[in-house]
Amino acid sequence: MDRIAALRQAVSGVRADRRRIGLVPTMGALHEGHLSLCDIARKHCDFVVLSIFVNPLQFGADEDLDRYPRSLAADSELARGRGVDLIFAPPTEEIYPRGPSLVRVSAPGLDDRLCGHFRPGHFTGVLTIVAKLFNLVAPDVAVFGRKDLQQVALIRWMVHDLDFAVDIVAAPVVREPDGLALSSRNAYIDTAARGAAASLSQALRAAQQAFDAGERDPAALVGAAHAILERAPGVEVQYVELVDADTLDTPGRAERGHALALAAFAGGTRLIDNHLLE
Ligand code: PAF
Repeated sequence: MDRIAALRQAVSGVRADRRRIGLVPTMGALHEGHLSLCDIARKHCDFVVLSIFVNPLQFGADEDLDRYPRSLAADSELARGRGVDLIFAPPTEEIYPRGPSLVRVSAPGLDDRLCGHFRPGHFTGVLTIVAKLFNLVAPDVAVFGRKDLQQVALIRWMVHDLDFAVDIVAAPVVREPDGLALSSRNAYIDTAARGAAASLSQALRAAQQAFDAGERDPAALVGAAHAILERAPGVEVQYVELVDADTLDTPGRAERGHALALAAFAGGTRLIDNHLLE
């Protein structure tokens, strides 16, 4: 389905039947991580809507909007196989008929930290499209991957501050056997850069090991992760930070549940990852 009118009609029928609606927003190029979000939505709801929309508003001018992987036919098959009830895959003009939204949702102070510092405007684009999808689908539950730690935190703030009647569920990171977190952008990583890409999760493990050994100084935990990344050939670090997963503030002392979050280029591909200390 690619039209808003048809989407609204379908979801209002579902709501009239008093069935709970779950929304899984994606940009397509589906992988097992996305499909696990559909499984989680299914556990919470009777009717699962998957949106596929490569949102131009969240890409910077020098970013990969044009080459972002698009595979609607394969995505539809995967989603249907996983029991998704409705796929909403609109063209850009359907979502932004007057051009890029004039009115946008932003979260100053939170959307310019971590990834937002390196991708100015990115989270304004994310919050704006997610707000639009919430208005279009009016889901009871929306499921997002915890790999995008800052995105989840910002969406929770938006839901709270703008009174959206939706429960946000954050799903665990799904990883390759070598630890690499699943991402549609992994398609950009060639064999030569694979070791570099895998070093991100090794860095997170090193921080966890330091925590296990009793280290509670955030700077020391960040240092343990940095040490791995600095040794890995082909890796260029953007940031490594220990933060409270909800407020994104740096705590004075590390505790279980705090997140070690990082972003780095591996062989030229920008990757993000994080780990909740346990
Ligand atoms: O996480 C993503 O794929 C996107 O940021 C989202 C939430 C679908 C908004 O475009």
